[in-house]
Amino acid sequence: MSTIANSIFSPEMAARFDHLVTIYPVKRSALVPMLLYAQDDVGYISDAVVTEIAARLDLIELDVRNVLSYYSMLRTKPAGKYNVQVCTNISCMLRGGYEILDHCKHKLGIGHKEVTKDGLFSLEEVECIGACCWAPAMQVNYDFHDNLTTVKVDEILETYRQGLGKDVK
Ligand code: FES
Repeated sequence: MSTIANSIFSPEMAARFDHLVTIYPVKRSALVPMLLYAQDDVGYISDAVVTEIAARLDLIELDVRNVLSYYSMLRTKPAGKYNVQVCTNISCMLRGGYEILDHCKHKLGIGHKEVTKDGLFSLEEVECIGACCWAPAMQVNYDFHDNLTTVKVDEILETYRQGLGKDVK
């Protein structure tokens, strides 16, 4: 049972948030993890998410929005069902990361932070995702794909298009 009446989150997530605020010396330290969990639960950081998280942490909504505007991995609009994040940081850049990004843009017909009309894919250019040794790399939702070539990207996107990819929402 959530400590917040009429929580917008699932009972499991509400219980997780109840616990999160107890494990830091200062309540507001739970803000970033809470925003990330909320994004997975709801799909993006909606106004309702901001309101409830502010209430849970005894903050004003502006405090939450200030943090929200700082972190590029937090979204205020829904992403596609499959969020394609292509790394163009140094290792990936040197091994064709921009070619992979351009290929995804062309293939999906969308640019950075855009969503396809059918809502299936969104695309983001991101900083290092921790797969430098296997560059170039991308992530779709929470699945890593590395040692990419444009041919491999086509196969990966087709897998998701057929509904065989992982769906975290
Ligand atoms: S530079 Fe691309 S994963 Fe690290």
